[in-house]
Amino acid sequence: MLVLGIESSCDETGIALYDTELGLLSHAIYSQVAMHAEYGGVVPELASRDHIRRVLPLTQQILDESRKTLKDLDAIAYTKGPGLAGALLVGASIGCALAFTLKIPTLGVHHLEGHLLSPLISDTPPVFPFVALLVSGGHTQLMQVSGVGQYELLGETMDDAAGEAFDKTAKLLGLGYPGGPALSEIAHKGQPKRFKLPRPMLHSGDLNFSFSGLKTAVLTLVNKQTLDDQTKADIALAFQEAMVEVLITKSMGAMEKTGLTQLVVAGGVGANSQLREQLTRNTQKKGVTVFYPKLEFCTDNGAMIAYAGAMRLKHSPAGESCFTVKPRWDM
Ligand code: KG4
Ligand code: ZN
Repeated sequence: MLVLGIESSCDETGIALYDTELGLLSHAIYSQVAMHAEYGGVVPELASRDHIRRVLPLTQQILDESRKTLKDLDAIAYTKGPGLAGALLVGASIGCALAFTLKIPTLGVHHLEGHLLSPLISDTPPVFPFVALLVSGGHTQLMQVSGVGQYELLGETMDDAAGEAFDKTAKLLGLGYPGGPALSEIAHKGQPKRFKLPRPMLHSGDLNFSFSGLKTAVLTLVNKQTLDDQTKADIALAFQEAMVEVLITKSMGAMEKTGLTQLVVAGGVGANSQLREQLTRNTQKKGVTVFYPKLEFCTDNGAMIAYAGAMRLKHSPAGESCFTVKPRWDM
């Protein structure tokens, strides 16, 4: 079965072709980051308009790369939510219109399910059950994943998501958008131990997170300092260290609670190199194996939507008849 995946929930247009026998055939991502950068964040109307410009040319591109045509498709998966309503509607309407013409099923995929399953697009994937740390711009959750569609929430953020905290802190430091990669970049030059920031809810005894206090602590610190380049790098490092320690401690708590030995890290913050290095070091000591999606599948992409759609298709071959998007949608 050949599935076309369309991701358009925010500021990346991702298109991919997944074959249930052969695996991922081709994928392409167009990032709108440069367009939104001058506004300091995503402008929803501009995002929708740009998705409209990209979806069909990218679809043609990956079909050509895989030497396939629209007629070879067996199903179309699109991101149904959560995300920006107008942006979601672009992927949903183009996907459903194509499927209607081709008389093939559509599958509306939950964006977070795409992220959760993305580490499975690998030659050495984890096997069910595993724990997933999902750290994106909109979500921070620990989940027990027992199979496709079998997700149990173990803990989540009470306020800001990890990526959001990275982005807001980067803004306070006058760094560009998106903030996570920019902050991570300058943190490499930071001097350890110059500043120490709080680790919210580190010892709360549960698997929940809170990052708004950390952001406020950065604001207080920024207001007291002269923000030269070295100070910015030192604050960035202190922030990243606090964030990484909390994410690792809670993840290890989830491993202990579930007794599982595989940890999957998904979502944009999973691209953070300090998180990856320290997590790998910590988990090795405890007999836990950690899996990361390929870097290109950490942030939003079409491959994870095509893959999740293909997995869903096995269970519901008829797909879905209705066309909807869900800008807010709990998994
Ligand atoms: O998963 P994603 O692409 O989109 C959402 O579904 O939200 O995640 C985007 C988030 C942004 O907040 C971005 O700043 C953060 O992931 N991010 C990073 C890094 N790369 C992306 N945060 C920290 N370090 C990075 N290297
Ligand atoms: Zn995402």
